[in-house]
Amino acid sequence: MSKIGKDVEQARKLLMQNELVGIPTETVYGLAANGLSADAVLKIYEAKNRPSFNPLILHVGNIANAKKLVLDFPEKAKALAEAFWPGPLTLVLKKASIVPDIVSAGLDSIGIRIPNHPLSIELLGLLDFPLAAPSANPSGYVSPTTAEHVLQQLGDKVAYILDGGKCEVGIESTIIKIEQDEATVLRLGGIELEKIREVIGEVKLAGKSSAIQAPGMMSSHYAPEKKIILGNISENLKKYPLDKIGILSFKTSFENIPSERQFILSPSEDLKEAARNLFSYLRKLDESDVEIILTEQVPEEGLGKAINDRLRRAALG
Ligand code: TXA
Ligand code: MG
Repeated sequence: MSKIGKDVEQARKLLMQNELVGIPTETVYGLAANGLSADAVLKIYEAKNRPSFNPLILHVGNIANAKKLVLDFPEKAKALAEAFWPGPLTLVLKKASIVPDIVSAGLDSIGIRIPNHPLSIELLGLLDFPLAAPSANPSGYVSPTTAEHVLQQLGDKVAYILDGGKCEVGIESTIIKIEQDEATVLRLGGIELEKIREVIGEVKLAGKSSAIQAPGMMSSHYAPEKKIILGNISENLKKYPLDKIGILSFKTSFENIPSERQFILSPSEDLKEAARNLFSYLRKLDESDVEIILTEQVPEEGLGKAINDRLRRAALG
């Protein structure tokens, strides 16, 4: 049996046997297991080498199934779910007792979303349990946006990878915690803050001090092996030997650097395109023989905020 394919039935069978399966979503690939089985979920933590205090997101196929996993579904959650599901939004709500504690890493809340990818929606429709799925990368590394990325890094740890092509959004979901009908953004992601505000009004942003609320917001994350320098690329080019440098720029190309060592997120300055390319370009540079990756912030608006957040943390790695 090939490890990668489009066989949804195969994925279903393996998940029912509590095996791990790589699944496509519109954001990034997930490392999925039966979210109601503590044994299956334990395999996720082991495969990713994920700290046991970092909770997982449950993926469901419809809102009715999401409601079974939580104690209540407040008005703001309802409004956001109706506006953005299926899509790159995770809601953190009070957890129901049917969800094993290992999924939420002992917290009394649980992250839930409906992913917007036809293969995963089809798969979820065939299962009578939710899928726990973090991004399918070793803990701390860049998230995968193709099935091949998952194969490269976790190929020996998954039973199967459902290949849904390149992820449309390319960065992870926006995470919003709703508590007593107050909304707090725990992670910037695929849905812009501006769009969230259009639906529920002002939202709080989790400050750095509350980082424990979302361990994935740990400062060093999304970190390639190579050294990443974030700042003005033209200025930084003067400081390092040209033959050791790779470039990840927003829209400009640079002279004196061979084209195979520079990647432009979006020549047309389109933040959606930039988000879609971000992780795969970081990987390409990381796999190349460059030693230093020079990169820069993109405009701090819309998806740019989530992209800059990833770049800052990659640079801390
Ligand atoms: O787009 C996504 O969200 C992808 C795809 C596969 O759905 N998943 C993803 O999962 O990014 P992961 O595990 O890489 O990141 C989930 C983040 C972590 O930072 C975790 O700490 C946070 O969600 N999280 C999960 N449950 C939480 C909870 N109950 N309270 C606070 N943060 C939570
Ligand atoms: Mg992750």
